[in-house]
Amino acid sequence: MTTTSHTTSAILTELTQTTPARLLGSLARLIFRRYYHLSFVLNRVGTPLGIGPKEKYRLLRKIQKNVNSTRGGSTLEQHLLLAEELMKIAVHVQGDVVECGCWRGTSSASLSLVCSLIGRRLYVCDSFEGLPEPKNDAERYDIHAGSTEYYVWQKGEYSADLNSVRHTISMYGDISVCEFVVGYFAESLRTLNVERIAFVFEDADLASSVESCIIHLWPRMPEGGRFYSHEPWSEHVVALFYDRDWWRSTFNSHIPGFYGSGKGILAGLEYSGIGYTEKYDLERLKRAGRKRIRDGSRSEGVQRSDQPDR
Ligand SMILES: C[S@@+](CC[C@H](N)C(=O)[O-])C[C@H]1O[C@@H](n2cnc3c(N)ncnc32)[C@H](O)[C@@H]1O
Repeated sequence: MTTTSHTTSAILTELTQTTPARLLGSLARLIFRRYYHLSFVLNRVGTPLGIGPKEKYRLLRKIQKNVNSTRGGSTLEQHLLLAEELMKIAVHVQGDVVECGCWRGTSSASLSLVCSLIGRRLYVCDSFEGLPEPKNDAERYDIHAGSTEYYVWQKGEYSADLNSVRHTISMYGDISVCEFVVGYFAESLRTLNVERIAFVFEDADLASSVESCIIHLWPRMPEGGRFYSHEPWSEHVVALFYDRDWWRSTFNSHIPGFYGSGKGILAGLEYSGIGYTEKYDLERLKRAGRKRIRDGSRSEGVQRSDQPDR
């Protein structure tokens, strides 16, 4: 699947060098996206929760309306991918959903719609004052993989106040499942009133912000719990998940690694711009003699069966 997609992507890049071909590329992308929307509605993900094609079509339309109306920092396809992953959490796994980095509330509104369907609460965490000061210059200047440009992060960027986010979610999502956690993560997540976290989505841009999320959220995630990231393109963010010394000294743990580094995991036939890591206890798996088969060597089914709830 990865090879096919690499080829598809290479052909598309080739095609888009010329103007008529650019049109063809756009058309192909449109078809890919429509294919993904259709498969989102028709596949069996959600069935064990009683969520069928009719509910998923309604969800798709609401998410579409939200994305088109609110001008956030994430795409319809990214929201669908997160929706599918949320619906795949095994029914027996307890825990809430935490979003770190909501800006105008676009991603929060979509996540809230899904949380409402799957019966989980959504904790929307943000400073509501935009980004904090980058930790240093290495963090301030960030190369985007596959681009000839770079980011210059600045304090206060992506600022939207709590009332406007509440308004967005009330208009396009389901505010009844939301709790708001205000402040910079290093402090606000310390006192987050959630015992178990089944799913995290971070879209915080800065590696130091993501580090704070890991420090405070990881210990409350169950084995098999996933931490999704909107920053698979960022060398600084991805490096966090491979820093052996940091994981050993912070959690006395092995590194979890990261799936989708670069352009993210696939959403249908395109790269999503979203990657993830998963919590597992290697020593326990070894003791139990449990072999682990990773994505790519099996299909993931309608629910993730590898989530012990302990
Ligand atoms: C790119 S925006 C999020 C976009 C949003 N997820 C969407 O889809 O539209 C990044 C957000 O992360 C928040 N943020 C980044 N670092 C933070 C930190 N350390 N503490 C609190 N909020 C932070 C910013 O305030 C901003 O709202």
